[in-house]
Amino acid sequence: MIRMTDLIQKKRDGGKLDVSEIKEMIMLYTAGDIPDYQMSAMMMAIFYQGLDDEETLALTLAMRDSGDTLDLSAIKGIKADKHSTGGVGDKTSIALAPLVSSVGVKVAKMSGRGLGHTGGTIDKLESFPGFNISLSEEQFISQVNETGMAIMGQTKTLAPADKKLYALRDVTATVEQLSLIASSIMSKKLACGADAIVLDVKCGSGAFMKDIDSARALAIEMVKIGKGAGKNMRALITDMDEPLGFAVGNILEVKEAIDTLKGKGPEDFTELCLLLGSRMVLLSGLASDEKEAEDMLKASIADGRALDQLARFVKAQGGDDSYVYDPSKFENAAFTKVLTADKDGFVESIICDEAGLASMMLGGGREKKDDIIDLSVGIVFEKKKGDAVKKGDSIAVMHYNDETKIDAAFERLSNAVKIGEKDPGRKKILLDEI
Ligand code: URA
Repeated sequence: MIRMTDLIQKKRDGGKLDVSEIKEMIMLYTAGDIPDYQMSAMMMAIFYQGLDDEETLALTLAMRDSGDTLDLSAIKGIKADKHSTGGVGDKTSIALAPLVSSVGVKVAKMSGRGLGHTGGTIDKLESFPGFNISLSEEQFISQVNETGMAIMGQTKTLAPADKKLYALRDVTATVEQLSLIASSIMSKKLACGADAIVLDVKCGSGAFMKDIDSARALAIEMVKIGKGAGKNMRALITDMDEPLGFAVGNILEVKEAIDTLKGKGPEDFTELCLLLGSRMVLLSGLASDEKEAEDMLKASIADGRALDQLARFVKAQGGDDSYVYDPSKFENAAFTKVLTADKDGFVESIICDEAGLASMMLGGGREKKDDIIDLSVGIVFEKKKGDAVKKGDSIAVMHYNDETKIDAAFERLSNAVKIGEKDPGRKKILLDEI
């Protein structure tokens, strides 16, 4: 049996932990047999000394195996998953999963809820009345076999070691360590059982990784872990310096995802779906190169298969699929307030996390885990970075229900939008690929 004091000392002094030591440490910590104060010291030692590739993989696999893992072998064919490191206006899974599954990719996906300035797929899906996010493993697997896709909420038993460790890191200033972040994310992804994983590592003011070097380093680390676990991996580093698409807020984002599946979505969001989607198609062995894969996806949008697949999926999970074909049925917020340009010029920047927080302040997101969110509120931008504006032009429309919340949220959004004299140009959505 390990002695935690010895392991802390070894790591503190720059030593290497054995795979068996890491496994036992995580097992004992999950069971409550290692106290938080010792694990905090270990996290701080790792924070300063780092983990090598073998240690990082061992930590990831130990956390993956700390709870239930999904066995997707009863689903025929290659199962592909996608993971985003989170952002503002990131409704990607709602459009991407039906899009790729409409051309034959098997998508068995577990998603999370939103917290802080970032939203979550599960909250967005609950915009469809009746939508059920809690499926048993059997229901989940048979739905993928029958309809090609399923998305359910993360179960409590998914990587419980990570849940406990992440909460500990959060209060001991040990979150920002590359191997710890990568192993935390990948332990949950690997527990979901897909064969191929496409990572969307966000970079910019609305993302966890603010600059390209740290986003690239995280992407490389996660791809290494995935490959080490025998998965087929790709990572795209994509821009999150301004909100993705135009809409921020649950129902507003679902409507935008529906527009995108009809071929009428925002340019940046459509491009992102095609980029990620073509990689999922490719890793699933359904096309021979990115171009062929992208053409398959474009054809599915053009002839309505992608939209029909969203409806099929919503219905399979108990949701009202008529909303897919008639989004005007979604509830609207009671009031709107327009943010206008206070001078002529160009939209220089939209500080992404601030925009996310403005939406959260309207009730569209959670400050604490058990807050109840208001699905109809949020922001629809009418201008993006690089757009020319005249004084008085509408930049964004805030949708809200609670009149006591609008002033502070409006001020936050106003401060997030900068108008400058020079055209800053548009940012590319794809920054790098690993
Ligand atoms: N997201 C995670 O899931 N884990 C981390 O450590 C950081 C971000």
